[in-house]
Amino acid sequence: MLATRLGTLQLTNPVLSASGTFGSGWEGREFSDLSRVGGLVSKTVTVKPRPGNPPPRILETPAGMLNSIGLENKGADYFIPESLPKMKQLVGEHGRVIVNIGGESIDEFVELAERFTAAGVDALEVNLSCPNVQEGRLLFSTSPQMCERAVAAVKAVTDVPVFAKLSPNVTDVVEIARAAAAGGADGLTAINTLIGMAIDWRRQRPVLGRGIGGLSGPAIRPVAVRMVYEITRAVDVPVIGVGGIQSASDVLEFLCAGAAAVQVGTAQFADPALMVRLVEDLERELAGLGRSVGELIGSAHPEAGPATPGQPAAAGASAQERR
Ligand SMILES: Cc1cc2nc3c(=O)[nH]c(=O)nc-3n(C[C@H](O)[C@H](O)[C@H](O)COP(=O)(O)O)c2cc1C
Repeated sequence: MLATRLGTLQLTNPVLSASGTFGSGWEGREFSDLSRVGGLVSKTVTVKPRPGNPPPRILETPAGMLNSIGLENKGADYFIPESLPKMKQLVGEHGRVIVNIGGESIDEFVELAERFTAAGVDALEVNLSCPNVQEGRLLFSTSPQMCERAVAAVKAVTDVPVFAKLSPNVTDVVEIARAAAAGGADGLTAINTLIGMAIDWRRQRPVLGRGIGGLSGPAIRPVAVRMVYEITRAVDVPVIGVGGIQSASDVLEFLCAGAAAVQVGTAQFADPALMVRLVEDLERELAGLGRSVGELIGSAHPEAGPATPGQPAAAGASAQERR
């Protein structure tokens, strides 16, 4: 009932962690049995260690948060011996380990893909929201050509599934999704954070040290759902939906929009045991519906056939259900 598939990657259930919001999972092990989630996605790992952006880096917003962590991490030399074995231990035999990689050039993406393939991961997630230093710090996520080249270069050196993580900060996300698919992506992760900003009017300065930051949490869920819906209707590649998920109802919404799996991010800061509870709640909701995950994927698309008869879900139902 819960099993799903991202290309060749089989998952026991569709619930994964979102990159950067759960570390490598080690601190989360005290809160729940992480072998019950579909898989863990690492924080973005870069070739060299990165100190990240100046503080403050995090700000709570009315329905989510702004962050400007700046891909702080200790680099691949640390991650491979120290963090990767822990992730494998946490997910056990059936969960998947997906490593999110960030390169500042095509060569760096290739190096990371080669090293993590050799180190043994179940899949790679390519963080396209990284600046290409060789091409004037243009983001891989905003140029279809650069996106396609980065994905194709990673695909050429690995035999594990490659997921391209898309940014919502573009005019037409379908165009970038098509480019990632043309580069050979086995799946697409949608979406990364939306660029935002907060200003302290007393000091007349931006609140975050870097000025701008990425907006995440429930505020972005309708944007993410819309993008998953548009992408899955246009591109024949499995999509992992991410953005503002807090409840099983939110997961089901993403599945109906077309996602084959989901990632949980910001909500884990408030509840580090959330992922496992979502798996349990999802199982109960699906049993009530008499449907499997696979049957619901893309079921809200007009071409999927008539809607299930019954009461429409009340607006804001997921927020009510959480109480
Ligand atoms: C504090 C924080 C750090 C993040 N770090 C990364 C990262 O290292 N790599 C990445 O691809 N996405 C990163 N993200 C984006 C999330 O993986 C996710 O795409 C986004 O937050 C939307 O999901 P959410 O609303 O459930 O948090 C980060 C998000 C947050 C809030």
